[in-house]
Amino acid sequence: MSAESDGAKLVVVGQGYVGLPLAMRAVEVGFDVIGFDVDVPRIKCLAAGTSYVEDVSDDALVRALESKRYEPTSDPSRLAGFDFAVIDVPTPLRDGSPNLSFVTAAATALSQHLKVGATVVLESTSYPGTTEELVGPLLEEGSGLLAGRDFRLGYSPERIDPGNSTWRLENTPKVVSGIDDQSLRAVIGFYDRLVEETVPVSGTREAEMTKLLENTFRHVNIALVNELAMFAAELDIDIRESIDAASTKPFGYLRFTPGPGVGGHCLPVDPSYLSWKVRRSLGQPFRFVELANDVNEHMPDYVVRRLMLALNRQGRALMGSRILILGLAYKRNTGDAREAPGAVIAQSLSALGAEVRVADPHLSDDATTFPVVDVTEDEVGSADAVIVVTDHDAFDYELVRAHARYVFDTRSRLDGPNVEQL
Ligand SMILES: NC(=O)c1ccc[n+]([C@@H]2O[C@H](COP(=O)([O-])OP(=O)(O)OC[C@H]3O[C@@H](n4cnc5c(N)ncnc54)[C@H](O)[C@@H]3O)[C@@H](O)[C@H]2O)c1
Repeated sequence: MSAESDGAKLVVVGQGYVGLPLAMRAVEVGFDVIGFDVDVPRIKCLAAGTSYVEDVSDDALVRALESKRYEPTSDPSRLAGFDFAVIDVPTPLRDGSPNLSFVTAAATALSQHLKVGATVVLESTSYPGTTEELVGPLLEEGSGLLAGRDFRLGYSPERIDPGNSTWRLENTPKVVSGIDDQSLRAVIGFYDRLVEETVPVSGTREAEMTKLLENTFRHVNIALVNELAMFAAELDIDIRESIDAASTKPFGYLRFTPGPGVGGHCLPVDPSYLSWKVRRSLGQPFRFVELANDVNEHMPDYVVRRLMLALNRQGRALMGSRILILGLAYKRNTGDAREAPGAVIAQSLSALGAEVRVADPHLSDDATTFPVVDVTEDEVGSADAVIVVTDHDAFDYELVRAHARYVFDTRSRLDGPNVEQL
């Protein structure tokens, strides 16, 4: 496999959760890789062999550096002469609208070094049309070349699932597209070296839409079970039992479980790219996305309310109570706290006068302004309530069950007389 890629120069723009694993995989199969990032401390970290992405071990990074086929850099002149470039920069929201300033900067930087015959692929999640309407023109403008005729251009959504050791970059099917046949062939050829299966679609807009469909599907289904969980609590129905039972249906049902709200870079952001595009192009609201946003954004408040009611039943107020939050990351077994509901819950509890302490073995202590503690008998026993916000495997749930006065479990991880489920 590696012989095919030998000598080809790949630039990966953005060395984050998506770009760094891609760069490592490309080194493995024989590309000469420039890992370009504007974040200088990140680049220094990578050059020193320290990875900040949990799916990439320091060992793997050091091996890549030692191969001399991986160069992390912030120097744009190192982009010169690339055969392939992949854009993996953030696509956040600004006041509810897509913020494509990072994609714009990345495409502009690449355009200065674009040569005839090169291939550029956008992987960052964005609304349908971004590759053709934004990235293509920027590349053409800066290079004086013509997309399609002089260089290849495509879109391939990233499906990386941080913390998932079963479905990794190389064994997860990769949707690929190009602005024309030649571009599509170039993009397929590129990813065929990196992954086991490529899934071509006819155009970049279809590929862009695929990613948004996948994430909107999750967002909407999570909102559905979250809303059901809130109703079920009022109706005194055990929603988990219903979900378990429904999940035995071998067709037509997919299991989703309630939680304290959505977080990370994808679910709170990507569906809004789609609803923004629908509203702008068609003048219509995308009602499913708006409703799902509404339900999921409400969940942290709902968690706080449930805790307040639970303390009330015990004759206590939230004001002055000591609350231990287990997990601040948005997702189990990861250290990614971007847009995570845990931070909102901690802030709201604190604003209501609770004494908040947090435990998260996957996050560094400076990731929060609240006191960070270990999950010890003492710590658990002296809390008026413990909330499981992120069910990391590293927590000692037996200890929590044995020593907590009261647990509000938003992740269905615990049961017992002192435990209440979301
Ligand atoms: N994290 C995920 O699980 C995931 C999964 C699928 C898709 N995505 C999408 O992939 C894209 C990247 O996400 P991520 O999680 O890797 O983000 P990230 O924040 O982890 O990494 C992005 C990196 O890009 C760098 N950067 C920003 N502007 C740059 C520029 N002009 N030139 C070079 N580097 C620049 C940043 O410094 C940062 O290191 C987003 O569009 C996201 O929606 C993310």
